[in-house]
Amino acid sequence: VVASAIELGYRHFDTAENYENERGVGDGLRDSGIDRADIWVTTKFNRRWHAAPAEGLKGNLQRLGLDYVDLALIHWPNPDQDRYVQAWEGLIELRAQGLARAIGTSNFTPAHLTRLIDATGVAPEVNQLELHPYFDRPAERAFHAAHGIVTEAWSPLGRGNGLLDEPLVTGLAGRLGVTPAQVILAWDVVQGIVTIPKSSDPGRLAQNLDVFDVGLTDADVAALSALTASGIEPVDPERFGH
Ligand code: A2P
Repeated sequence: VVASAIELGYRHFDTAENYENERGVGDGLRDSGIDRADIWVTTKFNRRWHAAPAEGLKGNLQRLGLDYVDLALIHWPNPDQDRYVQAWEGLIELRAQGLARAIGTSNFTPAHLTRLIDATGVAPEVNQLELHPYFDRPAERAFHAAHGIVTEAWSPLGRGNGLLDEPLVTGLAGRLGVTPAQVILAWDVVQGIVTIPKSSDPGRLAQNLDVFDVGLTDADVAALSALTASGIEPVDPERFGH
């Protein structure tokens, strides 16, 4: 999958200790022969490393077979153990050492982010969170914009929650001559949201990359965002290891 993704033009790879995909992605990148400087690799460490972030990131790098990552994220705030400020202080140091070019968080709320910023004066560069038209997170995105934090969407296609069969989405797809997934990914792209659709199918990999010229209007974007009001439950991230 990594080899065919690179062939198609993908350059951004999202991994995590929890996903158990670091070895496979690292091998795929090496086998492809692509120049390290031409790819962007993200990874995330788990709760057990909040108190030992240097050790955590060292494990990520070993599994990936890389000497730095482009982006290292705290995978989850794990408020029950209340060590995410310590994890963040560690990532700031690891960025200074060059082991992570950029640092950020995943699944942090504005309250968690405020605590990091108050404690260290340093905002995450990215916060990766569940985000799609059924769950468009306006409060979180406004907070990110106010603090220069890039918003990144995980499970952008809604992970089987019916989004791709939603009549508004299929109607737009028909009008624009694209697939429902391309409508959703274009909704991310035109709003400046970084997104990481996952597919192991070569045809879907190709269509998910071809989303920069779909032709959504501002009214289409607003209509898609209004699906959030329809009250579909977001997925439970804990269940999927996010
Ligand atoms: P597949 O690998 O068979 O393409 P998530 O990122 O939320 O986990 O969702 C990924 C899921 O969405 C995968 O099951 C993937 O299946 C499916 N998927 C990815 N791209 C598309 C697409 N363009 N159209 C329909 N389903 C897709």
